[in-house]
Amino acid sequence: MDQAEQLRRIIKGSAPSKRPLARVITVTSGKGGVGKSNTAINLAIQMRKIGQKVIILDADFGLANIEIMFGAVPKHNLCDLIYKGKNIKDIITWGPMEVGFISGGSGITGLSNLNRDELSYIVENLAELDEMADTIIVDTGAGIADAVLEFLVASGEILLVTTPEPTSITDSYSLLKALSRHPRYHAETTQIKVLANKVTGESEAKALYAKLETVVERYLKVPISYLGMVPQDPQLAKAVMQQMPVSLENPKARSAVAYEMIVAKLTNRELNKNVARRGMAAFFSQIIARK
Ligand SMILES: Nc1ncnc2c1ncn2[C@@H]1O[C@H](COP(=O)(O)OP(=O)(O)O)[C@@H](O)[C@H]1O
Ligand SMILES: [Mg+2]
Repeated sequence: MDQAEQLRRIIKGSAPSKRPLARVITVTSGKGGVGKSNTAINLAIQMRKIGQKVIILDADFGLANIEIMFGAVPKHNLCDLIYKGKNIKDIITWGPMEVGFISGGSGITGLSNLNRDELSYIVENLAELDEMADTIIVDTGAGIADAVLEFLVASGEILLVTTPEPTSITDSYSLLKALSRHPRYHAETTQIKVLANKVTGESEAKALYAKLETVVERYLKVPISYLGMVPQDPQLAKAVMQQMPVSLENPKARSAVAYEMIVAKLTNRELNKNVARRGMAAFFSQIIARK
């Protein structure tokens, strides 16, 4: 029995959850430094403000951004769950406003060689996250690295952060192109929502989205939609220096208000009828199975 088949059996056999499964939102970009981690952390804070339970998974193995922005160093990471028998509660660090976060460490790169018991252990632990969170936000690295694409094809909902810099738009296009060619990408089950960051305002954001949409429509069969914008905001940069999310440090800042509006849109019932809540165990098993 191959690993993919083992996983299907493990997930089928695990106890049904009392709560609905968590919504998994993956934040990504074609290029680094465009504001992914700020997006992840501020959306999490704004979701907490309306009473949602949120856990962030930091899957950017290059730079552990989230912990720096939280000003909190986690004692353990996903590797400790996988290789040192820690359980999921041990590896969650609780940050400001009780936003949970999990550091991925390099834990995800070695997943393909685990045996059945190890897989069961991981999947059972990850399934517990569905009990602990309404939404799980995955902060990925930038670009078309295999590890990033694995996360994207496993996601029902991708939030693509783009800025008006020409390289950011072309890199977003390249990322969507790589995604569209991935054997496990399915247009019908993947919602891609574009967030325009570091813009002057709504009109620049819309123009930026229109540029991307034009090339994507012409050359790729990848449906995308416009989610919203966050303005270039010195208050955000200042908050980063103080290791605080701007949504807490300065809730009236333009960027904080923008994140609040994006969360209102992301949680609007009518607009999100088709959002899949597949849960964390299913998300990870796709990454592990690679079949
Ligand atoms: N809306 C914004 N306004 C001003 N500065 C921003 C904004 N978004 C991001 N930045 C700046 O860009 C830097 C990189 O953001 P970050 O979220 O770490 O990007 P990524 O995770 O994509 O690498 C931050 O340190 C911050 O100073
Ligand atoms: Mg980052």
